[in-house]
Amino acid sequence: MSKTAIVTGGTRGIGEAISLVLKENGFTVAATYAGDDKKAAEFTEKTGIATYKWDVGDHDACIAGCAKVAEDLGPIGVLINNAGITRDGVMKKMSFDDWNEVIRVNLGGCFNMAKACFPAMCDQGWGRIVNIGSINGQGGQYGQVNYAAAKSGIHGFTKALAQEGAKKGVTVNALAPGYIDTEMVAAVPEQVLEKIVAKIPVGRLGQAHEIARGVKFLCSDDAAFVTGSTISMNGGQHMY
Ligand code: CAA
Repeated sequence: MSKTAIVTGGTRGIGEAISLVLKENGFTVAATYAGDDKKAAEFTEKTGIATYKWDVGDHDACIAGCAKVAEDLGPIGVLINNAGITRDGVMKKMSFDDWNEVIRVNLGGCFNMAKACFPAMCDQGWGRIVNIGSINGQGGQYGQVNYAAAKSGIHGFTKALAQEGAKKGVTVNALAPGYIDTEMVAAVPEQVLEKIVAKIPVGRLGQAHEIARGVKFLCSDDAAFVTGSTISMNGGQHMY
């Protein structure tokens, strides 16, 4: 079992919490990021976790980047597809670019990264892939046709790939967070967010470390019988 884990978008928000919890649990973690070199350098200084910069929507960059991580840190056993962006807007105002960019990064990123990691996991006979979906991929969200479609796609992608990995010791699961206290959610207009929080039965936003603990479980040997599932962690906002 390889103890090298790669977390996309792993230096901030939910990704940061996942990187930390995997490190605490004995994994050698590589955290990828796409933009902010300064924040990434601060993250490495604070945590000792190595960072790698590439765009997960870029197929060739994912193949080359994962090869480099494996060369530096050893064969990749765990992949957390966490990187994601929003370009919210009602259909009338949403541009094709807003649509395309969210699909390219959020859904295309899962394909690109799995393409780079999954075959070797199967050859090794052990692997864990956790794709970060969303409550909004399960229930939809006003002003998010792009994001909801990408996240919903991630849930289908998970179930299909899980069937390919099942006999090879590779589990593939999704975790669907609700509204979590991160920069992404803080960008939602205040009055809109207030209305959303009012609909969360537990009465608050989630915390990134709460999601990270769910990911930790899915990456453990205790979760060997869990594959193709979507675990919802949303304070009861969406139950089905
Ligand atoms: N249901 C029905 N109607 C709604 C609505 C809703 N949920 N939200 C807004 N409306 C209505 C408004 O009442 C308004 O109606 P009137 O014109 O009749 O007054 C109309 O739609 C336009 O609303 P806005 O003024 O808000 O429109 P806008 O174009 O300025 O903004 C928006 C639209 C960008 C989508 C904004 O409403 C918004 O940011 N919404 C939040 C979207 C959201 O939840 N994003 C989640 C980001 S975090 C994330 O995605 C992480 C995760 O996984 C959970």
